[in-house]
Amino acid sequence: MKGNPMHGAPSDVEDFLSASWMERRRVRYDYTNSLAFMVGEEHGVPYEELKRYAGDSQHILEEFRQKEEKGEIGFTQLPSTVEYREEASRFLLKAKGKFDYLVVLGIGGSALGLIALQEALKPEATLPIASPSGRVFPSLHVVDNVDSALVSSVLNRIYLNRTLINVISKSGSTLETLANFLVFRSALIEAVGYPNHSRHIVVTTTLGEGYLFELAQKEGYQLFGIPRNVGGRFSVLSPVGLLPAGLIGIDLMELLAGAQYMKELCHSRPPMENIPFLSAVIQYLLDSQKGKGIQVFFAYSSLLRGLARWYQQLWAESLGKRLNRQGEEVFCGQTPLVSIGTTDQHSLLQLFGEGPNNKSITFLEVSHLPGQLTIEEEPSPHEITDYLKGKSLQEILLAERRATELSLTSNARPNTTFILPEISPFTLGELIYLFELQTAYAGELYQINPYDQPGVEEGKRMAYALLGRRGYREKQREIEKRLPSKRYII
Ligand code: PA5
Repeated sequence: MKGNPMHGAPSDVEDFLSASWMERRRVRYDYTNSLAFMVGEEHGVPYEELKRYAGDSQHILEEFRQKEEKGEIGFTQLPSTVEYREEASRFLLKAKGKFDYLVVLGIGGSALGLIALQEALKPEATLPIASPSGRVFPSLHVVDNVDSALVSSVLNRIYLNRTLINVISKSGSTLETLANFLVFRSALIEAVGYPNHSRHIVVTTTLGEGYLFELAQKEGYQLFGIPRNVGGRFSVLSPVGLLPAGLIGIDLMELLAGAQYMKELCHSRPPMENIPFLSAVIQYLLDSQKGKGIQVFFAYSSLLRGLARWYQQLWAESLGKRLNRQGEEVFCGQTPLVSIGTTDQHSLLQLFGEGPNNKSITFLEVSHLPGQLTIEEEPSPHEITDYLKGKSLQEILLAERRATELSLTSNARPNTTFILPEISPFTLGELIYLFELQTAYAGELYQINPYDQPGVEEGKRMAYALLGRRGYREKQREIEKRLPSKRYII
């Protein structure tokens, strides 16, 4: 068994976060196979056309900077906002050793970013663990569904007197989050008594408004703020993700340094050297000109499943819009589809390679995965397994990804690859920032608002009406009028 060659070497520890340390961890983007010379003009973008289009669209970069300066866009400030990290660190010190379980109640942008970080960086966090220094981090239980089976299974696994509940909701009024909160709060009060329960609850919400904010003030729950100009799905680097990630032992400084590094790499770069911008232009052209209405996010590591699901929400909820900024109907958006390599080579790949050529494939390749394992010599060698002798599982995974890339390319399926040197807080920080910016730029290319979600809001209003919330009588009548006169169920 070998260790990760990127980690643990004395020089590596010494030059932590130096320019060369960061450079060795730089995420790269290979877009060769999205070009016409590889997959043909019908399915790929001619290089000169890509260059021309990216150049003609570079005003987007300047307009984006102006919006940032005016404070309209806030997520790009998060990597350098030290107060959030410091605030989280102060709380971590206070909470140290007091809790064995961390229950996070949130949904969508208030949960998926944390799940991405936990699955990639602390996959063991669903069990109580001890770090080498002996510090015990609480185990994590994210409740992001109003599902009594899920909620009761968490309640059965934890001791509430050793539990911290972090309820996260930017609006402070999301139905699912509040419903789960009410269930957990009653159970908590029953377990520890009303006077003590407030020590077990922290609220992350918009400061100064909303039900959760008011409740926290009334009950004395510790509060963490979500900046108003940062939307839910862009908020993982705010207290939404930082606080629970820090509580389970993720290195917040390294995470934010990775995001800041990506920010600096993109800053003032010309369009053809700017990864978030160029990758947004490529997806936009593949969708709008080459009919690739689906983007397969094909991550070659099981640790990246959470990140893929986070990206799926980011891309779908930001770009799936009926109206453009001019109020015209456009019905735009590219459908993201999560795939994990090699697992889904035996599930979805047949469709990607031979089904309708309506997909763009985005690979994520990791150069060095943790836990390297090598196949030893077999006691009784056999020609079926002979070629595997001495190979590491990492080598096999990389070879399989490359084989998939080759076969898709030879079937004229356009694809691109993000190459991560390793899975670490730093590279996760880079990726999070990269994909948030890519999504924001894509919104500008489609000329839609990537920061709202009117379709989701409408669904929320309908649910309120169906559940009889005060003030939603009119909506209830509207729903009744739309109900079918007859149902066809067999
Ligand atoms: O990205 C978004 O804005 C949404 O997915 C929200 O995060 C989700 O609807 C939850 O909203 P809230 O954080 O207000 O509870």
